[in-house]
Amino acid sequence: HEVITKAVLPVAGLGTRFLPASKAIPKEMLPIIDKPLVQYAVEEAIEIGIKEIIFITSPEKYSIEKHFNRNDEIELRLEKSGKSGFIDKLNPKIFSDIKFHYINQENQNGLGHAILQAEKFIGDESFAILLPDDLFVSKKSCLNQLLDIHTNKNASVIAVNIIDEDNIHNYGVINPGSQKDDAIEIDDIIEKPSADKAPSNMAVCGRYILSSNIFKHLKSTEFDKSGEIQLTDAIKSLLSDEKIYAKIYEGEKFDCGSKQGFVHATIALALRDKSISDDIIKIIKEID
Ligand code: UTP
Repeated sequence: HEVITKAVLPVAGLGTRFLPASKAIPKEMLPIIDKPLVQYAVEEAIEIGIKEIIFITSPEKYSIEKHFNRNDEIELRLEKSGKSGFIDKLNPKIFSDIKFHYINQENQNGLGHAILQAEKFIGDESFAILLPDDLFVSKKSCLNQLLDIHTNKNASVIAVNIIDEDNIHNYGVINPGSQKDDAIEIDDIIEKPSADKAPSNMAVCGRYILSSNIFKHLKSTEFDKSGEIQLTDAIKSLLSDEKIYAKIYEGEKFDCGSKQGFVHATIALALRDKSISDDIIKIIKEID
C-alpha cells in the first residue's frame, strides 16, 4: 500500500481572534505550556512517518521557519555553559531527517486556496493535512487513526467529531453513509450548514489524508460568499470521482484557534505535566 510521506500545514491565516497577541507573533507560535502550538502538529505528523513538512505561510510568519531551523550557535552556548540537557529541546533529534518547506500564500483566500499552493510539492501521492489550531491528545494520535483506514481502504479519509447543534454551523458537516468497522463512507459534505440543514452532527476536524486528485477539484472550486476557497467544497466535488471515508476521532480535541479552547488546552496539559501539576492544582484551588 501507499506510504504517506508528506504533510501540509496551513499557517497563513491572519489569526484575528488572537489579536493583539498575533500581531508580531504568529498565533501558531503561541505556546501551550512551553511548546508552540504548531510543534504539536509537526510531532503528530513525524510520529506516523512523515518525512516532509510543507508549511503554507506568509512573510509575516518568519518565526515559524526560524523555529524549525537548527540553531547551532545556541547549541554551542548551551554546551559551554553545562546545559547540554536542553539541547534536544532546542534542536530535537526527531527533526534531523525531516525536510521543512515553506510556501508563500500571497493572499489569504481561505483554507482550500492555501492547500492548492502545495500542489507542485505533492505530485501524485496521497498526503496528510494538519490544521495546527486543532490540538489532539490521545493515546493513538488522530493522524494515526486516519492512517489505519487509509491503509485498509486505499482512499481519502478525514477526521470528524460529534458537535452539538448550537455549534454545528461553524464546521464542515458530513452526511454519513454505510459504516463498516470504524470507516464511515461519506455520502455528502457541506460547509457551515445552519443547524436545521445539517445532515448529521459529525463535523470535520483538522486532520485529513487526501488523494492528490483533490488539487484538480480545488482548481475548479469557486470562491464562496466570503471570498474564500473552501477545502470542504473541493472534497464534496472529489466525492463525485472517488470514495472518501470519515473516522470518528477517539480522544480529546482542543480548538486552540479560540481563546476558550486555548485556555482549556493550557489547563488540561498543565494538569498532566508532572513537573508542574501539583503547583497548578494548588494555584487553581486558591483562585476564588
Ligand atoms: P481559521 O479559519 O482558523 O483562520 O483558519 P485564521 O485566520 O487562522 O484565524 P482567525 O479566524 O482570523 O482568528 C484555519 C486554518 O487555515 C489556515 C490558518 O492558518 C489555520 O491554520 N489558513 C486559513 C491559511 O493558511 N490561509 C488562509 O487563507 C486561511
